[in-house]
Amino acid sequence: MKTSAKARDSFKSNLGVILALIGSAIGLGNLWRFPYLVGTNGGAAFIVIYLLCIVFLCMPIMVCEFVIGRRSQANAFRAFEKLRPNSAWKHTGLLAVITCVILLSFYVVVGGWTIDYFVKSLRMVFTPQTDYEGVFNSMVSSSAENIFYTVLFLAVSAAVILGGVRKGIERTNKYLMSALAILIVFIVVYSMTLPGAKAGLNFLFKPDFSKVTFRVALNALGQGFLSLSIGCGAIMTYASYASKKDNLLKTTTVTTISDTLFALLAGMAILPAVFSAGMNPGEGAGLAFISLPYVFAGMPFGKLLSILFYFILFAAALSSAISLLETIVAFLKEESNTERHRAVLLSFAVIVVFAVLCALSFGVLSGFKIFGLTFFDFFDYISSNICLAIGALLISVFAGWKISKEDFYDEITSGGKYKIPKWLLGTLRVFVRYIAPLVVAIIIINSLIGV
Ligand code: PFF
Repeated sequence: MKTSAKARDSFKSNLGVILALIGSAIGLGNLWRFPYLVGTNGGAAFIVIYLLCIVFLCMPIMVCEFVIGRRSQANAFRAFEKLRPNSAWKHTGLLAVITCVILLSFYVVVGGWTIDYFVKSLRMVFTPQTDYEGVFNSMVSSSAENIFYTVLFLAVSAAVILGGVRKGIERTNKYLMSALAILIVFIVVYSMTLPGAKAGLNFLFKPDFSKVTFRVALNALGQGFLSLSIGCGAIMTYASYASKKDNLLKTTTVTTISDTLFALLAGMAILPAVFSAGMNPGEGAGLAFISLPYVFAGMPFGKLLSILFYFILFAAALSSAISLLETIVAFLKEESNTERHRAVLLSFAVIVVFAVLCALSFGVLSGFKIFGLTFFDFFDYISSNICLAIGALLISVFAGWKISKEDFYDEITSGGKYKIPKWLLGTLRVFVRYIAPLVVAIIIINSLIGV
């Protein structure tokens, strides 16, 4: 087995671990996917289902990732090999790393757009007369502009990772998360004071149980995985840098609550502003890059808000992207026993190729389709809808059936340091062994047959 000669990287403090996990969790998924999903899937009714999925399915699987990562103190691939030597389980780790490559390849393209729009906001190019659809379309279809910002975003992520776990990841997340918390509250407060804000809140919070279907439940769980960064080894990798003394349940609970709270705040910041401008919230890119700049341009202090908003979007995307990149880098670094900077360079080279293909999906490669989807949409679809769920399923089966009950409890309680009620440990194990794998398997089958 190859091991690095030097001591492994580690986080300095438990707060560092928590902020890094929150950084990974809070991302584009919270800011443009969650508010829209809530509004179109039954409002508060969706939130209730989402919360149930988070508590009963996502959190137990997050605990599993944490157990596997911290117990093995290894990268996502080696973790499975260490805990179950010479078995096929190492392929689960490999799948996780491949998922990160796919996810990161399109994530950095959108990350690039956030920098592009941040720069445009600083240059104050947005006015109420601007053709926003035109600006967005010309950005994505211009190969040079799209590729430039994609590579820039990837380079910034790589620069953070180059600094290592403490000086790079831990420090950057500390700053980014503090800035995010302050700025989002500021925008929520501002948004609430706008005329017509109530319509936005109604869209977000008014329960409509007639919209609740099986499909809505599937959407809620899929969003839970994406939002909490579950199923691709990112949590496992960060957990492998955590101290054995850290309280695992507390860490995962704080991460989950923060991510969910941020998603709700994002909805409360964005939707009232959109409704107050008399617009309808469109999905994804349309909302963040077409409707919102228009909304900002018509508002008092709109220029400042636009700068703040695109900075938030950038910060959230960056803190998520670095967790994906670190999962890949840790794998390359430890498996080929090389230096961090070489692993970062190699990851950069690989991702840049796929990312450029994704970036060109809106321009010269728009006619190139895989199963009817452009590179960008294909990478988005298979990573968010299929790979994360398969990863989550395998992780819960592994933790539930391949790690002994004693070892599982030992890791969760940090060797008995934390007194966790027996009923809670027992219930958690039942969810990990039976309920989570069953429900997630149903989701995967449904995604594959496209119900
Ligand atoms: N949690 C991120 C978001 O909500 O945008 C997406 C993500 C980041 C998924 C990192 C997986 C991951 F490892």
